[in-house]
Amino acid sequence: MFFISDSPVKTHKFASSITEKFLIENETLIFLINGELGVGKTEFVKGVASKLGFSHADITSPTFVMVNELENNRYKMYHIDLYRVEKKFARSIVYDLLEETQFSLTNKKIVVCIEWANKLLKKREFKLNVGKVVMVDIKVSKNNIRTIKIKF
Ligand SMILES: Nc1ncnc2c1ncn2[C@@H]1O[C@H](COP(=O)(O)OP(=O)(O)OP(=O)(O)O)[C@@H](O)[C@H]1O
Ligand SMILES: [Mg+2]
Repeated sequence: MFFISDSPVKTHKFASSITEKFLIENETLIFLINGELGVGKTEFVKGVASKLGFSHADITSPTFVMVNELENNRYKMYHIDLYRVEKKFARSIVYDLLEETQFSLTNKKIVVCIEWANKLLKKREFKLNVGKVVMVDIKVSKNNIRTIKIKF
């Protein structure tokens, strides 16, 4: 499935609608987000966040923080940016976190957004059975036009 977005707002709305579609499934929701520098990965995450009741301002592109954790009454969201993380560490950071969420006693729905997920294994190799995995690939065509491809 793919979507053409011509503005950040359209990207937010698309991300929100995709989130809504998968939220009904009773398991952790994991977005593996890829695309070149500045393509709109974080903008996509803002759309996910707003569907969960967080504000766009809660979503930052931190240079040194790898995992940003947000929580409200119903949801726990992890925003992970692997840009500066070496491949060999990326895997253990993410897998440890996912494993931890599996055993956590929270009754809140967990949503994980991972930018630069190509630092991890490919989806078919994403071995831990920890949730619903949705692949998001964003490409720039020209100016503000982005093609957002979704695989699940
Ligand atoms: N259709 C669009 N969808 C999303 N962002 C867009 C769009 N058109 C223009 N932009 C702009 O592109 C930029 C995307 O920035 P963003 O931080 O989301 O990229 P990123 O992929 O997360 O970058 P990084 O690789 O540094 O993490 C923003 O400045 C946004 O305003
Ligand atoms: Mg980003």
